[in-house]
Amino acid sequence: MPEEPEQPAQLPSPAEFNRQLMADFRANGGQVGGMFAGAPLVLLTTTGARSGHPRSNPAVYARDGDRLLVFASNGGGDKNPDWYHNLLADPRLTVEIADGTGGVDRFPATAEPLAGEERDRQYAAQCERDPAFAAYQQGTDRTIPVIALHRLNAADPARHRAIADHLVRVHAELRDELADLRKQAAARQTASGTPRPAPPLGEQLTRHCLTLCGALHEHHTNEDGAFTELERQFPELAPGIARLREEHKTVARTLAELEALIADPDPAADLVGELDRLTSGLEEHFAYEEEQLLPALYGRGR
Ligand SMILES: [Fe+2]
Ligand SMILES: [Fe+2]
Repeated sequence: MPEEPEQPAQLPSPAEFNRQLMADFRANGGQVGGMFAGAPLVLLTTTGARSGHPRSNPAVYARDGDRLLVFASNGGGDKNPDWYHNLLADPRLTVEIADGTGGVDRFPATAEPLAGEERDRQYAAQCERDPAFAAYQQGTDRTIPVIALHRLNAADPARHRAIADHLVRVHAELRDELADLRKQAAARQTASGTPRPAPPLGEQLTRHCLTLCGALHEHHTNEDGAFTELERQFPELAPGIARLREEHKTVARTLAELEALIADPDPAADLVGELDRLTSGLEEHFAYEEEQLLPALYGRGR
């Protein structure tokens, strides 16, 4: 059961409000009354990041071609909603949406948080459609995440291309970030005149390092989720995917060592050397992953 924040007696708690809204939605073919009457709503069932239990939440959506976009606005609150954290931990979810004939269509999907210019453009478009979203963004310092939901269809080549494009894009971003970070660390190391950077590492370098570790960890968590689906669709990839899973564990160990090094006020090890080790391991991993997965996902060589 979701926790029940204390509320004045006459108002339902947010959890109770959502429960009533979802019951209404399911009983009335995706239509609801009250303050969300007429709003384009979906129900998202994610896996609780801590509990592992299914969690359902309503969300406003917009269509964008074959995918749906949802917005982790949390009504302009300062924290991202739990369902967003759940999707970062496990991008697989179930979507319920009005089927247009008085029923509810329920289907499995995967979530892809949008980044950079694409996220900004899609959020701006949503503000045009619904000015409440402009007010939500004004209410908080966090950047409200925009998440694309891809319907999982085992035989859909467009879906496979989307996964492949995403993989190529994220790998390129991670390679750039890592090269940047190495340059920054090397400059500091040279300036310190010792084989290691002068402690403390500096706020910017530390933050940069931890952001990169977080992004890489998130990418691999998402991939681990997607691998199971890919194995089902492309059984011939199973041995390659088994190796990729093992490589994710090696990368995770290197990341943990790097994080420990960053946290150490007087690190004994050589940060640039550690970054080089991570880079070469990752380069091999990215190359192997691309070689294994891209031909199948782009429909070549089958
Ligand atoms: Fe990977
Ligand atoms: Fe990858």
